[in-house]
Amino acid sequence: MNVFIFANSQEASQKVAERMIQAHDQENARVFGLATGSTPIELYQLLSQSAVDFSDSIAINLDEYYGLDQNHPQSYHTYMQNHLFRHKPFAHSYIPNGHNLDVDQEIQAYDQILKNHPIDLQLLGLGKNGHIGFNEPGSDFTSHTQLVNLTESTIQANQRFFNHNETVPTQAYSMGIASILAAKEIILLAFGEHKAQAVQAMVEGPVTPDLPASVLQTHPKVSLYLDEAAAHLLKQS
Ligand code: GLP
Repeated sequence: MNVFIFANSQEASQKVAERMIQAHDQENARVFGLATGSTPIELYQLLSQSAVDFSDSIAINLDEYYGLDQNHPQSYHTYMQNHLFRHKPFAHSYIPNGHNLDVDQEIQAYDQILKNHPIDLQLLGLGKNGHIGFNEPGSDFTSHTQLVNLTESTIQANQRFFNHNETVPTQAYSMGIASILAAKEIILLAFGEHKAQAVQAMVEGPVTPDLPASVLQTHPKVSLYLDEAAAHLLKQS
């Protein structure tokens, strides 16, 4: 794992934006695996303001809440439109259809999309409990797209995005761990003190389903872009 530590999230996001643009403009990367959450918002802003042209590229998102209409203000579909796609359109962008209650059909359809478009560069955030995508602790490392039950801590963490009278979804469609590991290159961003324990366990702990992000130790091309707060428990920091 390459570990890059920056003074703040803005500097880290700037470097990730430059790496993505380099991959696109100079290395012919055309399929980008994208993440949601608060962490990549600055990155998407920088990409939106940049000159990069993704109209020849494909975006495939990690996950989507189950049961939410794509036009719901808190759907990841809405998030991606607002933060990136509206400003920087891709030729095609795929996000699981959270409104498709036919679980087998949705899983099959998404796995087929991933098969048709192998991911060149996958972006990841990091859950406080070490989840990636929505692959919670205990997730099978051989998993592909799946419907997952969110843990209480993830539901609580997501509560802040919903109105207090709204129920936070308890399930989500997510690319599996094996789908994530199939990407040629992976970039994980983690910012803030509240991610420090998960970062340390991901980098220095054992590879275990108890901390799904630890599986990234087994991938040949992973780079972590951290701010100082998220990195401060690392031995080498
Ligand atoms: C959600 C998303 C993840 C994201 C995580 C962290 O669970 N499914 O993809 O990495 O939240 O969110 P944040 O970046 O807001 O800390």
